[in-house]
Amino acid sequence: MIEKKNFFLRNIWYYALPGGKLKPGKMLAKTILGEPILFARSRNGKVFALRDICPHRGIPLSCGRFEGDEIECCYHGWRFDTSGRCTAIPSLVEGQEFDFSRLRVKQYLVCEVQGNIWIYMPEGNSEITEMPEMEIPMVPYFKDKPYQFVEVMRFPCYLDHAVVGLMDPAHSPFVHRAWWWRSGRKFFHEVKKFIPSPYGFTMQRQKLENMGRGYWLIGGIPEVEISFRLPAIRIETITTKNNIICNLTAVTPISETESEVTFLAYWNVPWLGAIAPLLQPLARAFLNQDRQVVIKQQIGLQYNPTLMLIDDADVQARWYFQLKTEFARATAEGRAFVNPVKERTLQWRA
Ligand code: FES
Ligand SMILES: [Fe+2]
Repeated sequence: MIEKKNFFLRNIWYYALPGGKLKPGKMLAKTILGEPILFARSRNGKVFALRDICPHRGIPLSCGRFEGDEIECCYHGWRFDTSGRCTAIPSLVEGQEFDFSRLRVKQYLVCEVQGNIWIYMPEGNSEITEMPEMEIPMVPYFKDKPYQFVEVMRFPCYLDHAVVGLMDPAHSPFVHRAWWWRSGRKFFHEVKKFIPSPYGFTMQRQKLENMGRGYWLIGGIPEVEISFRLPAIRIETITTKNNIICNLTAVTPISETESEVTFLAYWNVPWLGAIAPLLQPLARAFLNQDRQVVIKQQIGLQYNPTLMLIDDADVQARWYFQLKTEFARATAEGRAFVNPVKERTLQWRA
């Protein structure tokens, strides 16, 4: 059975947005975990994030201007620096002493790696400025190279449904029917070995015999490894003799009823860049199939039905809930996270 209580993990890195969407000197407002956040990139390229609410009268700071590496509120012109410190209150006259240092907007810890902006979401109103111990999820092989392909889509559902959909092997023949991928008529018996990995689990590298049609593009039968880690990050590594393609799919909880799915790809296949514009509609169509099914699922979920997870096709989903619960407990008890996943071979037909 599926845990019905909705909750979001804290003290963990969430995928915020692709770095390419935030140009130097620009700001962007985004809700994450139901919190209004202002993301901005200084002229020197550094990204910062602040609570998107002016401490004076609550107007979003993102309604104001970003100038000279300071945010100016659109209402009364109070200014804030990149750390959220108030630097100016235009209405003050000489002699009206005011201690600016007491006035701060909450700053979020953000980090940009491999072209992605990650945000560390601390507990409640707390503020973290030092890098936490937990590392940021990285795509293997590509060091500090940015992604070459990105597609972002909003799903009108709570995080867990988007995540479970992402790791659900049994839906493919029914949801992802397309001439360029698979017809849905043929099923394969899959046997995959899984091992625990940091904050999640990994489907061990395996030759992909029952390929979707799209894979011939990269030459030869590829080997595939897929790992999942909390809070909602899936990294797939596809390798052939000479080529590597990695994709990262992250789900960002926008609110209790909305999630954002970001699909990013990294590759060393030179000509793939040339056909990337052709792949864009395919990726969009693929993600949209997942989105459409989630929309239909919402119709039934309104009635709060009891949901099931079965062996072996739903074991990954079960692990997800176990991982999430353990992470929440470990954080609450102030102890180290103990990965509940045990090595196991899973079989299913898909
Ligand atoms: S509301 Fe922002 S300066 Fe007054
Ligand atoms: Fe899917």
